[in-house]
Amino acid sequence: MKQLIPLIALLATAPMIQAVEPSITCKSFGTTTGGQKASLYTLINANGASASISNYGGTVTSLMMPDRNGKMGDVVLGFNKLPDYEKKSPYFGCLVGRYGNRIAKGEFTLDGNTYHLPINNNGQSLHGGLKGFDKVVWNATPLETKQGPSLKLTYVSKDGEEGYPGKLSVTATYTLTNKNELKLVYSAKTDKPTVVNLTHHSYFNLAGQGNGDILGHVVTIHANKFTPVDKVLIPSGELASVKGTPFDFRKPTSIGARIQEKDEQLKNGKGYDHNWVADKWPGHLGLIAKIEEPKSGRVLEVISTEPGVQFYSGNFLDGTLTGKGGKVYNFRNGFCFEPQHFPDSPNHKNFPSTVLRPGQTYKNTIIYRFSSES
Ligand code: GLA
Repeated sequence: MKQLIPLIALLATAPMIQAVEPSITCKSFGTTTGGQKASLYTLINANGASASISNYGGTVTSLMMPDRNGKMGDVVLGFNKLPDYEKKSPYFGCLVGRYGNRIAKGEFTLDGNTYHLPINNNGQSLHGGLKGFDKVVWNATPLETKQGPSLKLTYVSKDGEEGYPGKLSVTATYTLTNKNELKLVYSAKTDKPTVVNLTHHSYFNLAGQGNGDILGHVVTIHANKFTPVDKVLIPSGELASVKGTPFDFRKPTSIGARIQEKDEQLKNGKGYDHNWVADKWPGHLGLIAKIEEPKSGRVLEVISTEPGVQFYSGNFLDGTLTGKGGKVYNFRNGFCFEPQHFPDSPNHKNFPSTVLRPGQTYKNTIIYRFSSES
């Protein structure tokens, strides 16, 4: 009996996390301007955490995760309705492809053939072009797995779609694991040589979406090097040391600590909008970054097989977008960590290759792991 009192006291102060039965529900997310029906799936795991995902653009529209007191909060920016995603989304929560990030002047040469892509960003091609994988409707199959509720998305991108060669068959499986991880597993096959670089584009705010800027988040990036860029965010090709620069996040540092420093790279990116070269072994799943939010205690770990990560500090958010719950998204109110191959890889022989050939299978795993600390 003596043991009982401290146990009861402990239970009284324990976070209010209740075990629930994992589930997946589906509802309509409206009809696209092109007349396609879109759905919204809500995955709930055994801890009551949830992820809402639309098959429009493979978009994570909401992600409810507990803070240090077990209180759930939505940690991603987004919109309430499909037309906002179609008309004005700066890639909120979506699946980016066929080539995430920039390709210089929208041009690359593969096996002697030069391909021209749509220009949609300061004279460059960004995130797969005018109608990238973020703007198409995917086939969706809900699955129950041992790890947690899951949604399998598939899409066949036609040969020549957005200027890219080869018919590309893509599968992306999103699982909300019972360890509070959003696990994204991508695979793709092609019938002609092409380039592929898929990633995920959630804008996180661990204090809760719409709850101010992200400058107080404390970031660690396990990277000794990054890829410096020019004014239109195309890498020079150099792998530069982070040592002595505002890009050194090898020790936990707040996003805001150095973002105002006079630094040519910060000027070019209007803040952080750069690719870090992950220290972990390329192709192997490993921890790339950790982000801690001191007020809520929420922690996000970014784990991936990819060789790089684009860390973007929401520098283009300017208060003109109103999102979920009427929240206005001001300057730097969200940040992205997009594990991926390096920007403009098709034009840099020294970067890990993004070429996919017939018979090969493209694979990429990204895990966003949530926890909390007191
Ligand atoms: C990426 C880019 C940024 C910006 C956002 C979308 O993260 O690196 O420059 O274009 O997407 O606004």
